[in-house]
Amino acid sequence: MLELGLAGKIAIVTGGSEGLGRACAERLAGEGARVAVCARRKEVLERAAAEIRGATGAPILARAADVTRAEEVEAFVAATVAEFGGVDILINNAGTSAAATFTDVDDAAWQADLDLKLMAAIRFCRLVIPHMRRRGGGRIVNVTTVGGKAPAARALPTSVTRAAGINLTKSLANEYAADGIRVNTVCLGLVKSAQWERRAKGDPEAYYREVARRVPLGRVGEAHEFADLVAFLVSERAAYITGTAINFDGGMSSVV
Ligand SMILES: NC(=O)c1ccc[n+]([C@@H]2O[C@H](COP(=O)([O-])OP(=O)(O)OC[C@H]3O[C@@H](n4cnc5c(N)ncnc54)[C@H](OP(=O)(O)O)[C@@H]3O)[C@@H](O)[C@H]2O)c1
Repeated sequence: MLELGLAGKIAIVTGGSEGLGRACAERLAGEGARVAVCARRKEVLERAAAEIRGATGAPILARAADVTRAEEVEAFVAATVAEFGGVDILINNAGTSAAATFTDVDDAAWQADLDLKLMAAIRFCRLVIPHMRRRGGGRIVNVTTVGGKAPAARALPTSVTRAAGINLTKSLANEYAADGIRVNTVCLGLVKSAQWERRAKGDPEAYYREVARRVPLGRVGEAHEFADLVAFLVSERAAYITGTAINFDGGMSSVV
């Protein structure tokens, strides 16, 4: 048994109502962390929070917030601090796939993806880092994709915005290491989640079998496996790990 040392820690998980964020929130709560989750759809969020509370007994703060809106991000972080007294862990997870050909991505789509995947992470980091410094350290995980390191064709704007997220990770890791704040990114391949289930229109397993052909390990990842990696990265067991970009992709990426 690996003791993660997460009991009593205060964690923010953005996009914590479904998919990978929800799995993460449940894993951290199961380790005894106090977890604050946000997402846009209030009902889905509140249902998830109630289920996580029921499964773990941990206190969960659920607040509807769109991470692309600066004022909603501010209000959510302020509510977390008011409820739990600070922030130790931030998981910048909210997002969705956006993969198109270059000519199909107009200015509005570029801006929307930058707002969702880059500016949201920047704003959350800016707001929580002072709390982490006051508390003597912190841990941040930015969720990105393997395409941010090695872009495929027709994977825009995500490949570009995720490359920025990987760079942000290393930049912040360098700047805040002296404050005991560790910053890492998990670069995703294909992992089971609500977004694929919605797109698969009723038969997600058939969809997963189809796309698994592209994965060397021969299957799509599970959300709980992603949550295990995130829990490790924000734990005391990963105290010497910062500034890394870890592929979580069953071997799919062409780069390490
Ligand atoms: N699963 C994969 O294979 C995969 C691959 C590459 C990257 N990723 C990345 O991993 C992260 C999680 O994805 P997922 O697959 O778990 O997706 P998901 O199942 O669709 O869950 C996304 C979560 O984020 C929330 N969200 C989306 N936009 C938001 C916004 N503007 N403000 C606040 N919350 C928002 C959603 O709730 P609401 O809709 O109610 O807001 C939901 O809770 C995303 O950043 C995604 O791009 C996933």
